[in-house]
Amino acid sequence: MRRNIILDCDPGIDDAVALAIAAAHREELKLLAITTVAGNQTIDRVTNNALKLVNFLGIKDVPVARGSAAPLIREVIPAEDVRGSTGLGDCLLPETGKAPASEQGVVFLADTILKLPQGETVTLVPTGPLTNIALLLKVFPQVKKRIDLICLMGGAAVGGNVTATGEFNIWQDPEAAQIVFHSGIPIVMCGLDVTNYCGFTETQIREMLENPNPVVHAYGEMTDFYLRSRPYCRGSIAAIHDAVTVTWLMHPEWFRGREMQVEVDCSEGQNRGMTVCDFREWAQPEKRSGVTVLLEADTEKIQKFWLEALYSYQN
Ligand code: BDR
Ligand code: CA
Repeated sequence: MRRNIILDCDPGIDDAVALAIAAAHREELKLLAITTVAGNQTIDRVTNNALKLVNFLGIKDVPVARGSAAPLIREVIPAEDVRGSTGLGDCLLPETGKAPASEQGVVFLADTILKLPQGETVTLVPTGPLTNIALLLKVFPQVKKRIDLICLMGGAAVGGNVTATGEFNIWQDPEAAQIVFHSGIPIVMCGLDVTNYCGFTETQIREMLENPNPVVHAYGEMTDFYLRSRPYCRGSIAAIHDAVTVTWLMHPEWFRGREMQVEVDCSEGQNRGMTVCDFREWAQPEKRSGVTVLLEADTEKIQKFWLEALYSYQN
């Protein structure tokens, strides 16, 4: 069955890969819209990147709406050293004169969801800080019953990448994440426990760079940037965190996860942004959290699946 999805993202190299994979599988994933959120880069840059990507990938029918410019409480802290000055590494995509379909991403999200034909629901796929999603759920709670799942990239049961315990998306806006994790909507958390191990090898990236297909080549240029970025490299693997979300939607059988209580540390201490995952099944036996934390992934199958998707582009 075709699943309605909305990507809420901050492209972002791995966001761009997630988008390309989703767009290569439009018979399974009906991409209703893309909303942007400040994270990897400023809201202007990530929105511009999203507009360029839909143009470049030939999915111009998908509307792009500009979302939140800053987290709920703090200022956004873009990190050019690990994400590049445009947010897409060294890749320069063709300019597009197109303007966003809306400057009010949260309102646009609500409208898109509430306009769904009766009986239809949507899966939200956030791959950036959760600011837009938290605002959506707080300001328009009536959308909740039309959201079947939130499959997000963020957090970790163990460790972090920005700090010892903070993963970037959650750490950027912990208050928003806490609202989303407690929304009561089923959540699949694709955190660093799996995303750190899902990626491309240096050889695969070199092959993409040498490929004449403009889409493959561009993704080679983008992901090559990760090879030089310590937080994104695990040995010789450049982690493509965000693409795990859309992969789980199509192939949940390649993953193992567990439902558990997840709390976000919103303190000002050293663990700000940590996703505290409670593995104690016996601790809250009668309470279901609705949050499934992914813990293992079949990384080889996933890598193959991603390469097939990227190489399927003809232009
Ligand atoms: C997350 O942080 C961002 O830089 C990536 O796009 C991804 O969403 C990984 O921690
Ligand atoms: Ca992202």
